[in-house]
Amino acid sequence: MRLDKLLAHMGFGTRKEIKKLCRDGVVVVDGKQVKDASLHVDPQTQTVEVDGMPVEYREFIYLMMNKPQGVISATEDRHDETVVDLLAEQHYVFDVFPVGRLDKDTEGFLLLTNDGKLAHELLSPRKHVPKTYFARIEGRVTEEDGEAFKKGVKLDDGYVTLPAELEIISQGAISEIQLTIYEGKFHQVKRMFEAVGKKVIYLKRLSMGELQLDPDLEPGEYRELTEEELDVLRR
Ligand code: URA
Repeated sequence: MRLDKLLAHMGFGTRKEIKKLCRDGVVVVDGKQVKDASLHVDPQTQTVEVDGMPVEYREFIYLMMNKPQGVISATEDRHDETVVDLLAEQHYVFDVFPVGRLDKDTEGFLLLTNDGKLAHELLSPRKHVPKTYFARIEGRVTEEDGEAFKKGVKLDDGYVTLPAELEIISQGAISEIQLTIYEGKFHQVKRMFEAVGKKVIYLKRLSMGELQLDPDLEPGEYRELTEEELDVLRR
């Protein structure tokens, strides 16, 4: 891997800034000063130091984002801003992608990583990873809706959903609920409410697996997962 890419991954700045670090003579590979930032290094077998400090290379990063409305859960889009566009250079360079999709108008917990294996496991239909959503619903959500979701409801394409858990927070012309589902069909929450004759008017994902959205993250903000959170997710 190119030295400038490796150091950018490790948070040493933009490629331009790293080029300058090399020119300034503070970057050392296997004990030798390296002036050329495009040099190829093998982080598994070679040692890299910046300003006399060894650089611990890591391959993967894991970001928890509070996805804002109006942004697409993809790495690129011709018309709209994507979640990847919201990342700082030091995270962007890791080539992360969103683990699963939230609709453009859905907010909340979105995991971004470049760890394809973990992403695959979290998304695997066989793993039944729970996802909990908060939603505002037009119409009075009832205990009968909860019973229907517990049994599984038939979506517009004939698919019958797995049992899901509904918690009614408030009932009225607009109701507030939490729903936990164990699969991730396209527009699943919206279509489940359509199946019982109601409309989702606001949707936010609160958790994935046992990991909750950090309440300190404003929409559009993100942070790296801690080691403990990563362990929770891997479990
Ligand atoms: N269900 C939906 O309908 N939309 C989402 O974004 C996520 C789950």
